[in-house]
Amino acid sequence: MPVGTILVTGGTGYIGSFTSLALLDAGYDVVIVDSLYNSSEVALDRIELISGKRPAFHKVDLTQGEDLDKVFAAHPAIDSVIHFAALKANLSDQTRAQAVGESAEIPLEYYRVNVGGTLCLLSSMKKYNVTNIVFSSSATVYGDATRFENMIPIPEHCPIGPTNTYGRTKSTVESIIEDFISAERQNAQKAGKSFEQWNGANLRYFNPCGAHPSGIMGEDPQGIPYNLLPLLGKVATGDRPKLLVFGDEQDYPSRDGTAIRDYIHVIDLARGHLVALNNLREHKPGVKAWNLGSGRGSTVFEIIKAFSKVVGRDLSYEVVPRRQGDVLDLTANPTKANVELNWKTELTMEKACEDLWRWVSNNPKGYRQEPPAELLNA
Ligand code: NAD
Ligand code: WQD
Repeated sequence: MPVGTILVTGGTGYIGSFTSLALLDAGYDVVIVDSLYNSSEVALDRIELISGKRPAFHKVDLTQGEDLDKVFAAHPAIDSVIHFAALKANLSDQTRAQAVGESAEIPLEYYRVNVGGTLCLLSSMKKYNVTNIVFSSSATVYGDATRFENMIPIPEHCPIGPTNTYGRTKSTVESIIEDFISAERQNAQKAGKSFEQWNGANLRYFNPCGAHPSGIMGEDPQGIPYNLLPLLGKVATGDRPKLLVFGDEQDYPSRDGTAIRDYIHVIDLARGHLVALNNLREHKPGVKAWNLGSGRGSTVFEIIKAFSKVVGRDLSYEVVPRRQGDVLDLTANPTKANVELNWKTELTMEKACEDLWRWVSNNPKGYRQEPPAELLNA
């Protein structure tokens, strides 16, 4: 008997695929819905290769409520949802890289998918009485936490204040989940039913990175990557001539003049979803926000150094003006998740660099090529 059946939206994407793997390993059945807008069905093959189990899959656009309803109807055992499906800032034409991100250029599309898609999902959940939701929020909701005193590392009670449209879609969805769960709890109570069944987790991730240690599963963006480590991977494979380092000591008064982020291995992050889900199902806490980060900040130069070390040679970079909307320091205070979820990161940023390089160097075309036989047979 499975422990439970979980609907994973965006489950063929980067973090969704690793979380689906963690759920299967923990004994859950997994049903994935994804439009494949930024992912590929090959992720399902890799999940199966690693875990020996294949999630059910439905190619569904989340904004199409009727299609979503059919998935819930086809899988009546679904008791909880982990909600990843969204557009994320993935503009990175390096000639325009310092410009405002994609979400500022096409805000209505971001709100339609990220907020509208969530509204469809919550409506279906209500219709089919599926009462737990774990949501992919982001440390981006905090914006520039250095505007307050003593808020670095950032605790969950730091006031939110996203600096871009993408971040505002995330904070909006957090509020929608709070309002929805609180209303459903009250409605259930008025009707004399158990209200505790309705629960939500807003998981604020810091900077996810890394790949599976087997070297056969990792991030496979459909366009040019946007984030620092995937871009460094492209420099190391020769697909890009150099990394543009955004900002210097004039912009960032850090220990080396570059911005600080809390890089978290995707396997630790996936386990964070598992423990948050278990907490909702067992402790029925209502709606909770938890930071998922390591508590350790690294500068851009420190990341370049760590990644160059695993690659075994220096990687070219050039310091250019700061990217609009970037902030000095996003380092988590993960104490709340440490205490309430008994979760903390176990893998270092250096291990993430090592796993990322194994993935990128063996699969330069991502899921568009078969991995080397020695990795498949390992
Ligand atoms: P991803 O793009 O790899 O995964 C998102 C998935 O959602 C993709 O598979 C995509 O095809 C799917 N999707 C997009 N629009 C859809 C739609 N309308 N209907 C159905 N599926 C749709 O991104 P990821 O890095 O795995 O991010 C997962 C979640 O975590 C996202 O919500 C993202 O905003 C959030 N997040 C990511 C990061 C990060 O740095 N990767 C940080 C914080 C939060
Ligand atoms: C990390 C650091 C850059 C690229 C974004 C989203 C956030 C979340 C994670 C959501 C920063 C610097 C980067 C480059 C550089 N995603 N950098 N040259 O900006 O912290 O967060 O991704 O889906 O919501 O905002 O991550 O990896 O882009 O940047 O110097 O070519 O690397 O300035 O300091 P970021 P990132």
